[in-house]
Amino acid sequence: MSEKRLRQPIVAVLGHVDHGKTTLLDRIRGTTVAMKEPGKITQHVGASLVPTEVIEKVTEPLKKLIPTVKLELPGLLFIDTPGHSIFSNLRKRGGAVADLAILVVDVMEGFQPQTIEAVEILKQRKVPFIVAANKIDKIPGWKSIENVPFLVSVRHQDKSVVEYLDNRIYEIMGSLAELGFDSDRFDRVKDYTRQLAIVPVSAKTGEGIPELLALLAGLAQRYMKGRLKYVEGPAKGVVMEVKEEPGYGTTLDTIIYDGIIRQGDVIVVGSLEGPIVTKVRALLLPEPLQEIRATKKFRVVDEVSAAAGVKIVAPNLENAVAGAPVFVVSDESQLEKVKEEVMKEIEDVLIETDKEGVVVKADTLGTLEALVQFLKSKDIPVRMAKVGPVTKRDVMEAMVSKRMNKEYGVILAFNVKVLPEAKELAEKEDIKIFVHDVIYKLIEDFENWVKELREQEK
Ligand code: GTP
Ligand code: MG
Repeated sequence: MSEKRLRQPIVAVLGHVDHGKTTLLDRIRGTTVAMKEPGKITQHVGASLVPTEVIEKVTEPLKKLIPTVKLELPGLLFIDTPGHSIFSNLRKRGGAVADLAILVVDVMEGFQPQTIEAVEILKQRKVPFIVAANKIDKIPGWKSIENVPFLVSVRHQDKSVVEYLDNRIYEIMGSLAELGFDSDRFDRVKDYTRQLAIVPVSAKTGEGIPELLALLAGLAQRYMKGRLKYVEGPAKGVVMEVKEEPGYGTTLDTIIYDGIIRQGDVIVVGSLEGPIVTKVRALLLPEPLQEIRATKKFRVVDEVSAAAGVKIVAPNLENAVAGAPVFVVSDESQLEKVKEEVMKEIEDVLIETDKEGVVVKADTLGTLEALVQFLKSKDIPVRMAKVGPVTKRDVMEAMVSKRMNKEYGVILAFNVKVLPEAKELAEKEDIKIFVHDVIYKLIEDFENWVKELREQEK
């Protein structure tokens, strides 16, 4: 019996700023609250759980319209990603902790820089996704009907309005094609393993949400059952964010993707200074939103099992880093083995070789990994990759690189500060520092600079 149990798929929500990620999740959460007994909604840290009963109720009207599958999943766990650092931090060796993703695109605005960034990262981490073409209520002439399937709403629209929508969708299909993806409006998709589904939705009115949830659940169930088997035993998770909490000190917001974690468990957390071994003092979940009289922000729980988001309170977490693994140690004899496993999970990212190549700095382990992988895919060698601000030492590394190959005597910095003394030295030594908060832009800037350099040499 138990080996058949599936866990909730972890669904990350990505997209350009203001395209409606949080509103979409609020809508789904609101539905969840509305359809369950008050107070019964499970709050997670940085994640929201939508149980099967709710998905079934929301998708009920679809049964008459399209073939739907019987749900065996215990629900869906959604993760909001304000900026792509969070998504990049949902990493594990060789891929992502997220099983699936929703790419939110404002139907009126189409693809924007961060949409492209999101697709590139999804592609790199091999995460299957669905596109939510959001804000259809803003289409000129659109007559909204609250909370109905898109397939119902679209029947009530004028022909010209539907044409307008389809043109916007063709545009999104074009942008996806440029990035190597075949896609279509979900009701025209013939093979979900080869084509991405685009679901027109409105986070504001709830139109299209039934299809979005049905497709997510259906895809997860049909194509990823193996991946979703609940694994008994000690928990495996990843640090999403390291946060100071008044009264608790440094805490870790984590996503648990395997097994179970209990208060009192010994855990190993990855850090840049080697593995941290500590003991879970408390596990915290946010208080449900509708408990108005709740004075405390968090509720203490004894245990949490995958898939879930939870805040871990424990001593000595100061050096923990976002994107690093958190593994529970089942018994003392396993400690050394788990420590090794934890460091293996982060070692591939922190490259340090004496070969020629660029110097790379990023704000978290997750973004560093994404950046290094992009550079590798473009055959740009990396001399050193580290988390943190650009320091004098980094400039010195770039100076060594420059002596071997002028083109690589640079620093690529993602989402980090350049320390004043580093800036000073870089100016003096003519070391170029590229800084950007969009990864592919950072690489583009560098590539353009290389092109210019080569032109000058001609
Ligand atoms: P960031 O977290 O800042 O990246 O933005 P986001 O993607 O989470 O967008 P958010 O949900 O905050 O929405 C941005 C704005 O768009 C808000 O003013 C929303 O009310 C509005 N909005 C979101 N979805 C819809 C929609 O379906 N229709 C309309 N008309 N407005 C929407
Ligand atoms: Mg948001």
